[in-house]
Amino acid sequence: MLYILNQKSHFTKEELLLYRKEIEKYPLKDNVVFAPSTCFLPLLEGFSLAAQDVSPFQVGAYTGDVNASSLASLGVSYVLIGHSERRKYWKEDIDLLEQKIRRVLEASMIPILCIGETKEEYQNGKTIESLEKSLLIFERFPQEMWKNIIIAYEPIWSIGTGKSLEKESIEKIVSWIKGKVLTKVLYGGSLYFPLIQELRKNTSLDGFLIGGMSLKVEEIIRLLQES
Ligand code: PGA
Repeated sequence: MLYILNQKSHFTKEELLLYRKEIEKYPLKDNVVFAPSTCFLPLLEGFSLAAQDVSPFQVGAYTGDVNASSLASLGVSYVLIGHSERRKYWKEDIDLLEQKIRRVLEASMIPILCIGETKEEYQNGKTIESLEKSLLIFERFPQEMWKNIIIAYEPIWSIGTGKSLEKESIEKIVSWIKGKVLTKVLYGGSLYFPLIQELRKNTSLDGFLIGGMSLKVEEIIRLLQES
């Protein structure tokens, strides 16, 4: 099981160093992957690392961008692509996401493509339609590469809201995704430890994308001890 800890745009340097001090009392695990703000990645050197985003461009004159090879040189193994917050605030579209995925693969890292339905789509029974649309991006890559792109299924209405999809629906949707694209599938959206324990019993899930919970040091220690 893979656990990606998306810390989003939280923490100061001092706060993250305190967090690190607590966490490193426990044995590190490769499958527990920290995704701090890009500027803080070096502060977590030695931990398994993910980036929250990447430039669609290669090395060059792109002020403000952080390219994939820079991330790889910091020891980053995974990169989130198209998180709903980036799609919402930065209007990221399929063409941009394709370029980002290509850059990540070229740098020998693993892209984690985030997909999920909006509240409106969920309420109108359009979840599958919405996911189908998001999965069209795979057609831009040869089928033998699909297994190199992890999918994170996160209902958008569930992110940061404390609301969660029922276990049965998660299982159904994850199986449906795997029927379409044979790759690893993570689940995310308002996860907390007991829910993770419950969902772990679902054998088709390959892991979790964790937001808010990843900020709580005691929860992450539990994860390190019990995962
Ligand atoms: P959440 O965030 O766990 O706080 O809902 C998940 C995510 O945005 O990846």
